[in-house]
Amino acid sequence: MSDSARPTPQDQILSSYDFFDPETLLTAHSSYMNLGYWAGECATADDASVALAHLLADSAGFRPGDRVLDAGFGFGDQDFYWLENWRLKSITALNIGAKQVKIARRRAGERKVSDRIDFRQASATGESPRPGGFDRVVALESAFHFDTREDFFARALESLRPGGTIATADILKRDSFDFESISPEDEVKIRTSLFSGVPPVRNWYGARVYAEKLAEAGFVDVSVRSIREEVFEPFLEYSLAMLEDAEFQQRVGAENLEMSRGMLADAPQIRRCVEGLDYVVAVATKPA
Ligand SMILES: C[S@@+](CC[C@H](N)C(=O)[O-])C[C@H]1O[C@@H](n2cnc3c(N)ncnc32)[C@H](O)[C@@H]1O
Repeated sequence: MSDSARPTPQDQILSSYDFFDPETLLTAHSSYMNLGYWAGECATADDASVALAHLLADSAGFRPGDRVLDAGFGFGDQDFYWLENWRLKSITALNIGAKQVKIARRRAGERKVSDRIDFRQASATGESPRPGGFDRVVALESAFHFDTREDFFARALESLRPGGTIATADILKRDSFDFESISPEDEVKIRTSLFSGVPPVRNWYGARVYAEKLAEAGFVDVSVRSIREEVFEPFLEYSLAMLEDAEFQQRVGAENLEMSRGMLADAPQIRRCVEGLDYVVAVATKPA
């Protein structure tokens, strides 16, 4: 394995995602691990996660026959959804978590799509699986983890054919929040408040810098749009409600319920932290 593909200490921390089981998540009928896009009629975490996957596919401009690179695939739910609904040619999907890869591969086998979805254990910042061989590169709520996000942008540019697009649903520092008025310790609390593992400090910047970094990487037609109002608060409200939901309690079991209660114990503090965070959909094109 080349140095660029070898898991870094950061990657190893992040394989803590392997702690999660597909059956004990907030989603009851799927295994998404994102905060969801709660616009329109979404009533459950499953609906909101599918809506976010749908929004990202539309933003990336998926077309039938596309070859897609998906960076940070969780248990693969979005890939099954995209493959079927956009009639994609193929998806190459990368994840550093061994357990997630194993489960996603098994699920691909059960759905008989292993010939069209290639789930690989690899970092999004490692070597491109097929330079110039993809029409779209996407990262569904995962790029804030990559060490660094800029390295991922460089790999994405290299992976795309000319005219191909990158699209991310991503969590960032909020440009309009007054960070001057809080202590460095409080800023760290905000930066680390919503994450599993600690995202690299070098990824801590807002939407304006995000757009500049995409342009510096070589992309054009860059857009970065905030959807934070349709993400953070509805997700938090739903999560708090689920703690009292008998079906949820039974499904996740006592230990996971206790852990979720601990994580959500101080809702006002979570809300204060979220004030400093943005949630964006970013889209950009590799020059033709
Ligand atoms: C918040 S989860 C989102 C998973 C999935 N996209 C979803 O929406 O359900 C973030 C994912 O990024 C993966 N990840 C983190 N760092 C990564 C890296 N450097 N390369 C590839 N995947 C990574 C994690 O293992 C996890 O599956």
